[in-house]
Amino acid sequence: MKKVLITGCNGQLGRALNELLRDSDVEIINTDVAELDICDLDQVRRLLTERHPDTIINCAAHTAVDKCETDAENAQKINGLGPKNLATVAKEIDAQMVQVSTDYVFSGDADTPYTEEDAPCPQSVYGSTKLEGEQAVASILDRYYIVRTAWLYGDGNNFVKTMLRLAETRDKITVVNDQYGSPTSAMELARMILHIVDSGEYGIYHGTCEGIASWYEFACKIFALAGVDINVVPVTTEEYPASVAKRPAYSVLENKKLNSQGSYRMKHWEDALKEYLAN
Ligand SMILES: NC(=O)c1ccc[n+]([C@@H]2O[C@H](COP(=O)([O-])OP(=O)(O)OC[C@H]3O[C@@H](n4cnc5c(N)ncnc54)[C@H](OP(=O)(O)O)[C@@H]3O)[C@@H](O)[C@H]2O)c1
Repeated sequence: MKKVLITGCNGQLGRALNELLRDSDVEIINTDVAELDICDLDQVRRLLTERHPDTIINCAAHTAVDKCETDAENAQKINGLGPKNLATVAKEIDAQMVQVSTDYVFSGDADTPYTEEDAPCPQSVYGSTKLEGEQAVASILDRYYIVRTAWLYGDGNNFVKTMLRLAETRDKITVVNDQYGSPTSAMELARMILHIVDSGEYGIYHGTCEGIASWYEFACKIFALAGVDINVVPVTTEEYPASVAKRPAYSVLENKKLNSQGSYRMKHWEDALKEYLAN
């Protein structure tokens, strides 16, 4: 990878990639919606043809899961059409592409971790539009990496920051204890992406930190590591004020493809959280 175009560069993953690439000899073309709206094919074609990156990492997305339910048209454009536009032009300029996707492509009904070979069955607008994006990329390109991640936190709005902010004004927080996943730091995901991107081992990858937690366990660990003394109360999804989009109860992803290659293993979620809070 000599010249990489990053879309959605102001988001959590975009920022983490920039931090890792800052001192490298890779030329970075940073774009967010102001410079490149991925929903606009003409704009995508103009910029990519002019700048000619050899690699495109699509970090742009409509990530507000509940809002996607009421803003389905926009969600479809950003999560479905956007990746299709990027893949269309990537093919024209012979670039490889990384499409970042989500655990929400699965139903969440399983009780063992999902592998890359399991059949997707999204339950929300966010999940189905992200799956549409995956399918567009896979049908247009040969040289693609689809990387599904989950419970992402980095430099942006996320669960870790929300917990720490709420703790400033409350002495008790209720957190759901029957939804399981793998909290993943944007920095760890960025490292994983940069590791696979020049491997030539194309296809679908799961890229989450190792280990499993409920939101409640995740919250308890955040407070323990941050030295915050607060009463964290576990509740069921049923007891929690209803969210608009259906959340998968079990959205643990197994990094089967990555781990079978054996050259990079993502940190355990607790170690990645320690690193994040230390910084
Ligand atoms: N966050 C999670 O928990 C999570 C979980 C699983 C998978 N993922 C996936 O991981 C990837 C990175 O997520 P993230 O948390 O880094 O996302 P993020 O922080 O929400 O960043 C997304 C960026 O994309 C920009 N964007 C929105 N519409 C755009 C458009 N039409 N053209 C260009 N840029 C646009 C956003 O700008 P605005 O802020 O101005 O809209 C934002 O800067 C996404 O593919 C996401 O679906 C995230």
